[in-house]
Amino acid sequence: MSKILMVEDIAVDIGKLNILKGVSLAVENGVTALLGRNSAGKTVTLNTVMGYWPVRRGRIEFLGASLVGLPTHRIARQGIVYVPPRGVFHDLSVELNLSLAIGSRAYRARREYVFSILTELKDILKMPAGCLSGGQQQIVAMARALFHGPRLLLLDEPSRGLAPVIIQRIGAVIREMARQMPILLVEQNFTLASELARDFYILDDGRTVYAGTIAELAADDELKRRYLAIG
Ligand SMILES: Nc1ncnc2c1ncn2[C@@H]1O[C@H](COP(=O)(O)OP(=O)(O)O)[C@@H](O)[C@H]1O
Ligand SMILES: [Mg+2]
Repeated sequence: MSKILMVEDIAVDIGKLNILKGVSLAVENGVTALLGRNSAGKTVTLNTVMGYWPVRRGRIEFLGASLVGLPTHRIARQGIVYVPPRGVFHDLSVELNLSLAIGSRAYRARREYVFSILTELKDILKMPAGCLSGGQQQIVAMARALFHGPRLLLLDEPSRGLAPVIIQRIGAVIREMARQMPILLVEQNFTLASELARDFYILDDGRTVYAGTIAELAADDELKRRYLAIG
């Protein structure tokens, strides 16, 4: 059986710098976590899947077909959606943030479904996204992704900078979304990641240095100390 997303030993250069040196991971249904310290290469990995950075070496396959060399819009058209941390347009209303990329017809068609998961949206629709709290902005960013009807979601640090009570809500939303679509979750918050994900990958200095399950990772204090700065 082929994986939903398969990344195999990719190398990526940015300018003259070799940023990714050997990243491998596989995404199946549910939540897969991609962990690692700051600057380990997590965001570059997600953006490479989206076709933003060209790969010098390695394979990337979505549902068995290669993504290597495809432009970003064609990768997006296959249903892969990247969600940057609090990725919203500050000057636009929440409603415009949600409808802009998909058009008003698709917006009306999916509105009820998205609002049923993200109930807090109804009260903030007319507000400029720049006036929202960090947690609300993250909700809007995830709502935008849901409106695309994604077949694979790449979530980049959804908890970054948010208060614990808000992180709980974000976690509940991610769990609900994961019932509908596979999610590759980049996180620095190990507690959140361990509540949501089954399979884990750890990046360090542009390489996958660990792949395993939450049970294995939780039991390995040395690993957590070395690569996650916790424990
Ligand atoms: N646009 C860029 N130009 C130059 N270097 C970059 C660029 N984007 C990321 N990098 C470098 O690549 C490395 C990995 O970055 P990134 O993937 O953003 O890390 P993180 O794991 O924190 O998401 C870092 O050393 C970063 O400085
Ligand atoms: Mg990052």
